[in-house]
Amino acid sequence: MGAEAFATVESGSSKVPDHVAIIMDGNGRWAAANGVSRSKGHRKGADAVREAVEGAISCGVRYLTLYAFSSENWNRPPEEVTDLMGLLRMYLKKEVRTFAKEGVRLRVIGRRDTLAPDIRGLIEDAESKTRHNSRINLVIALSYGSREEIVMAARSIAEAVASGAETADQIDESRIGRALYTEGLPDPDLIIRTSGEQRLSNFLLWQAAYAEFLFSPVLWPDFTRETFTRAVAEFQSRDRRFGARP
Ligand code: FPP
Repeated sequence: MGAEAFATVESGSSKVPDHVAIIMDGNGRWAAANGVSRSKGHRKGADAVREAVEGAISCGVRYLTLYAFSSENWNRPPEEVTDLMGLLRMYLKKEVRTFAKEGVRLRVIGRRDTLAPDIRGLIEDAESKTRHNSRINLVIALSYGSREEIVMAARSIAEAVASGAETADQIDESRIGRALYTEGLPDPDLIIRTSGEQRLSNFLLWQAAYAEFLFSPVLWPDFTRETFTRAVAEFQSRDRRFGARP
């Protein structure tokens, strides 16, 4: 795909994906390939987040969801977890100012109760300060696991039924969707995973039912707004039928 691919992205076109979700992978391999620490790889990864947001804005994407820290990532060595949490603190403090300028509304999905209280505070502050922004919705998945999300949804619906507030036959797809962290968000149209790995890793399992997948060999720290634009162009060349006949 060359320069002509960029030309096919038309902002406002019905084929621009409304919601793009990204599994940001390859910080560690980028660090090893460049002879620097994993920590530096993650820092470069945080810079690439800005590229993705700018790419999404320029393409006219309205929702961008980034998988920043999975439930399973807590099992990494403690120094790396501390490092990633520190990076997140810095990101939340610094970016909240640019979010206002760029019209970015932030929302965090995942198990907030597992995060440090000061990080929870920063998240609440950023969500509240950006709530009137409407150019793009940036959703960051933090301490997020999709199976866990589905379990929590099942539990909350079971409680509503047990209390008599709802009946079992009222449970449908939309009710389940409303019990997930992603309540109110459209399903992702396009899911990108970087670094050549081809799996979902417990990300948006319910929501991905009709998503297009794009696996890019680019290591996350090398991801640029052009990588994003190319991914959108690739999406535009796909034929989505949602199970129906043409
Ligand atoms: C995967 O690379 C990346 C992560 C586990 C963390 C993602 C975090 C960032 C991109 C930076 C922080 C984000 C924000 C929003 C501030 P890996 O370490 O699994 O790489 P590897 O598979 O090559 O080892």
